[in-house]
Amino acid sequence: MNDYIEIINKKLNEYMVIEYPEDIFKSMKYTVTLPGKRLRPVMCLEACRIFGGETDLAVPTACAIEMLHAQSLIHDDLPCMDNDDFRRGKPSNHRVFTEAIAVLAGDALLSYAPQVIIENSKTLPDKTLIRVLHEFMTTAGAFKLIAGQVADIESEKGIIKNTKEETLKFIHTHKTADLFKLALKSGAIIAGADGNQIDKMEEFGQIFGLAFQIYDDIMDEVSTFEELGKTVGKDKKAGKLTYVSLYGLENARDKIIELTAQAHEIIDRYNSEIFVSLLDKITSKITVKN
Ligand code: IPE
Ligand code: IPE
Ligand code: MG
Ligand code: MG
Ligand code: MG
Repeated sequence: MNDYIEIINKKLNEYMVIEYPEDIFKSMKYTVTLPGKRLRPVMCLEACRIFGGETDLAVPTACAIEMLHAQSLIHDDLPCMDNDDFRRGKPSNHRVFTEAIAVLAGDALLSYAPQVIIENSKTLPDKTLIRVLHEFMTTAGAFKLIAGQVADIESEKGIIKNTKEETLKFIHTHKTADLFKLALKSGAIIAGADGNQIDKMEEFGQIFGLAFQIYDDIMDEVSTFEELGKTVGKDKKAGKLTYVSLYGLENARDKIIELTAQAHEIIDRYNSEIFVSLLDKITSKITVKN
């Protein structure tokens, strides 16, 4: 895993150039290069590897997915969204560069990310490239990531679709799991995996994403700023619909155990130490702290 993270960090630094007008490039680079966990690019490279692909070919896409993730974080932290002053242990983007620049940096990352894929994936077959770009653009847009973010924000005002349970699943699926699905599926597509194998990655991404967002919801209640690098306790304050607010902490923990068991059923056959250790990380941190 550390080898992947090293490659990703090196390439992200290379891709995040600074030109005139410097503020926008600095703002884009700031959040992208802060030390996040790099879960999504790591999963992209690992999905490529388990299906026999050359991981080097997936590096531009893996980095682009981290840029999309950073974009979602920059916008998520804005005062008009979650109004968060900290991200990855540092002041959030709008606090350093102003709101106007943070909005523009998110926009710029959204279009720079596919640009990076296209400019650095010249050896990929056109068909593969178009499939990856299609997955990328669908995930970034109103049908997926943005749908989840909108439903999340609306939940603060009590706006729901059908039941709270359904709405919560919608939020978690789209704001979180879809990005993991993108990472895993595009890694598999680049490796030349078949339809069934790509479907397995989609299933794994969905389950992992739900477990991960429940974990994030728990951490918001029980963890510390020092551990997370972001403000804690903000979901409750905002009245957000989260797994913890709807089902309680104990049930949230049980759900993670259930989901990680399901995830193992899908991925154990691939003998991936990385996937197993990511699942272990989520389960090992959900013990009661308060
Ligand atoms: C934060 O994701 C956003 C959520 C989906 C909860 P991460 O916890 O992966 O954030 P970084 O990349 O490590 O900062
Ligand atoms: C994460 O939701 C989903 C994103 C698209 C950023 P959160 O709002 O719970 O993420 P954090 O807790 O701010 O990282
Ligand atoms: Mg949010
Ligand atoms: Mg947030
Ligand atoms: Mg959160």
